[in-house]
Amino acid sequence: MIRLVRDQSAQIKRASEVRFTFDGAQVPAHSGESLLAALIRSGHLHLRDAPEDGAARGGFCCMGLCQECVVRIEGQVVESCRAMVTSGLAVTSLKART
Ligand code: FES
Repeated sequence: MIRLVRDQSAQIKRASEVRFTFDGAQVPAHSGESLLAALIRSGHLHLRDAPEDGAARGGFCCMGLCQECVVRIEGQVVESCRAMVTSGLAVTSLKART
């Protein structure tokens, strides 16, 4: 048996909208959401290149285990799935060429 539930998505209260940059491009997000979620939603799936063969890499586990989602923020290499978006954040990929 399937119970049909009314669409209640309009009732969801989101945090304030903010913007950050990814390789210089403006990315919209909501304050406090995961950086990886904001990147995926905006279509930025290729976050780094594998050092061995240069293959494109991006988020995989989304919980801080695989290290596939690492990016650079203010000189620090961080897991984007464990970082929160803040207004004005400058994020760069770890691609060999951007
Ligand atoms: S997606 Fe696996 S550590 Fe971030």
